Amino acid sequence: MTSSWFAILPGMMGLYSRHIFPRLMEWFMSRGEFHRLRDELLHTAYGDVLEIGFGTGLNLSHYPSSISRLTTIDPAIVLPRTVKTRIAAVSFPVETMPISAEQLPYQDRRFDTVVSTWTLCTIPDPVQALREVARVLKPTGRFLFLEHGRSDDPYVAEWQDRLNPIQNLIGCGCHLNRQIDDLVENGGLSIVTLTRFDMHDVPRIGGTMYQGSATPAT
Ligand SMILES: C[S@@+](CC[C@H](N)C(=O)[O-])C[C@H]1O[C@@H](n2cnc3c(N)ncnc32)[C@H](O)[C@@H]1O
Repeated sequence: MTSSWFAILPGMMGLYSRHIFPRLMEWFMSRGEFHRLRDELLHTAYGDVLEIGFGTGLNLSHYPSSISRLTTIDPAIVLPRTVKTRIAAVSFPVETMPISAEQLPYQDRRFDTVVSTWTLCTIPDPVQALREVARVLKPTGRFLFLEHGRSDDPYVAEWQDRLNPIQNLIGCGCHLNRQIDDLVENGGLSIVTLTRFDMHDVPRIGGTMYQGSATPAT
């Protein structure tokens, strides 16, 4: 009995990560507070923009229509019909690439803005991804981030550490306890603005937020 479980488990996890998790993520992250926060972050995006961890394109309607183009990357292709409809509804050109943020095929200093929302929690090597962000950003460019991560409250942080392995499994690689500001600085970026807060609609364990902007360190 135990060995047959081990035989079917990888297949079940594959089904979960390809079909069930993207729908859960789409439903959970479409709620009002998420939209308000996306709006707040993205109204300053400008020029040639790169978004890492594009997901189902929930940021698309929040970009100013004045951006010149949007390049998006994500190794997973999720809910492609929904993504296609969202792309068709915006007025700027959008290019999607099924690749990981740890190795970007773009020239140095290309982008005016790089965006990451609820993504640094999941990228397997976030510091390497952020080094790539620093490389492809113009010296005057901005990295805009909106991420959940480690709480400053020791009691909450302790629970984040305890529950991290379970979240990793049910959240398809998501970590609850990453210290986002340290990752950004370790990736070769200097933080310009940083706001820390707890989301109203999400338990603190997953709703401790880091919202800000950074520029390539000189
Ligand atoms: C929780 S979702 C967030 C999606 C989207 N950014 C949003 O705000 O709705 C995390 C995303 O990170 C993507 N991801 C995982 N590993 C990645 C990597 N190495 N590089 C870029 N994106 C990655 C996942 O496929 C997923 O779409």
